[in-house]
Amino acid sequence: MKILLKDGTVVSGSGTSVQDILIEDEKIVRTGVIEEAEVHPDEIRDMSGKYLFPGFIDAHTHMDLEVSGTVTADDFRTGARAALAGGTTVVIDFATQNKGETLKEALANWQKKAAKGCSCDYGFHMAVSDWNDTVKAEIPEMIKKGITTFKLYMTYPAMRLNDGELYEAIRAFWEHGCFAGVHCENADLIDAKIREAKKEGRFGPENHPKVRPDTLEAEAVHRLMVIARLAEAPVMVVHTSSAKALEEIRKARRSGQTVLSETCPQYLLLDESVYEKKDFEAAKYVCSPPMRARENQDVLWKAIADGEIDILSTDHCSFTMEQKRMGESDFTKIPNGMPGVENRGELIFHYGVLQGRISPEIMCRVLSERPAKLYGLYPQKGALFVGSDADIVVMDPKRKKTITAADHHYNMDYSPYEGFELDGSIEEVYLRGALSVKDGKVISENQGRYLHRNLPKLRG
Ligand code: URP
Ligand code: ZN
Ligand code: ZN
Repeated sequence: MKILLKDGTVVSGSGTSVQDILIEDEKIVRTGVIEEAEVHPDEIRDMSGKYLFPGFIDAHTHMDLEVSGTVTADDFRTGARAALAGGTTVVIDFATQNKGETLKEALANWQKKAAKGCSCDYGFHMAVSDWNDTVKAEIPEMIKKGITTFKLYMTYPAMRLNDGELYEAIRAFWEHGCFAGVHCENADLIDAKIREAKKEGRFGPENHPKVRPDTLEAEAVHRLMVIARLAEAPVMVVHTSSAKALEEIRKARRSGQTVLSETCPQYLLLDESVYEKKDFEAAKYVCSPPMRARENQDVLWKAIADGEIDILSTDHCSFTMEQKRMGESDFTKIPNGMPGVENRGELIFHYGVLQGRISPEIMCRVLSERPAKLYGLYPQKGALFVGSDADIVVMDPKRKKTITAADHHYNMDYSPYEGFELDGSIEEVYLRGALSVKDGKVISENQGRYLHRNLPKLRG
């Protein structure tokens, strides 16, 4: 099957130009000016006026994850279907080791979860909750199985490592050419702030941001920088939410360290005022780190535009309102996390590109190219080159859309972006050459394949 996409505005991390793309089966086989008579396509689609992006990669999702005595509302079936609808053709989910488990067991568990059905291609990072010699010895086997990046937590009792363990793990990963993404918040001080709130009789969701201020994120980032310097290893700060945390990353970089960084749409588009919502509505936004003061948003947008933030992921970790109500009388029992996997591309296109905060090239870099390089998928993914997988997002800058949970593909009863009005939206998505999303609807489900990832490429 040959499909010719004519006259699209093709975007890469370094430029944008009007081109034709010829897809043959799963791959891109030609780009440039392509005469129909030369290639005899089965189908020709007019792409004039549309941006063609390489399929977006969401390198931070939590599907089918047990948290606080419940399981995320989205499993791979619903979560990846939503991802695909939003132009995400690859998710890299966090396979998560329970304490006492081997990494092999955790990986087998996640392979089983994804095998129930996944509508986009997928890979895994391995979240290590129990650092020990057995786990250390399993790193080469993980790499053989395509797991080349890891995740570590400085908070959450079930997953947290202490500073010494963080040091050993980060050093051991880098000995094999791998790095870890780290959740940075000071757990002990958060616990103290929680005790304080409870003593004062403060149990509502509005207290969530109060016990997790940006200073505690920045302190943990600073500590991580010290640990990584000692380990002589690169490290990624995941879901950077504040200017203070970013400043710690900058300082470490200025001193010569390799530090990678990620942020998420919620920290660019929502602010701490969401926690003032009444009737338990604030619980919708309970995630960690929490939303910050509005002035952080401009700092993060500018950092994206200036290339200081490497990637933009969602941290999709969805819980329905019924699940959130587990914490109705105690905000610390509200499962942490928010949905977002379906909206990222369109939100960033509207608020970033169409509103002039970032160029299409930067959008391509943070959503496609850079995650593909960092996570060992480039140029199979993250680029529209001859030989790349034909994962293509057709973005129409004139196709208006209003976000509403009622139209979503995921298993959720609310959207944090309900009512957001977008000037542009996705018209089509191709997954390995197959038209899989048309006019906002997923028309081909469960075609996702496991991606065996190579070692990270940190530069370029
Ligand atoms: O609140 C959040 N972000 N939940 C998901 C797990 C994590 O911290 O990344
Ligand atoms: Zn986290
Ligand atoms: Zn996360």
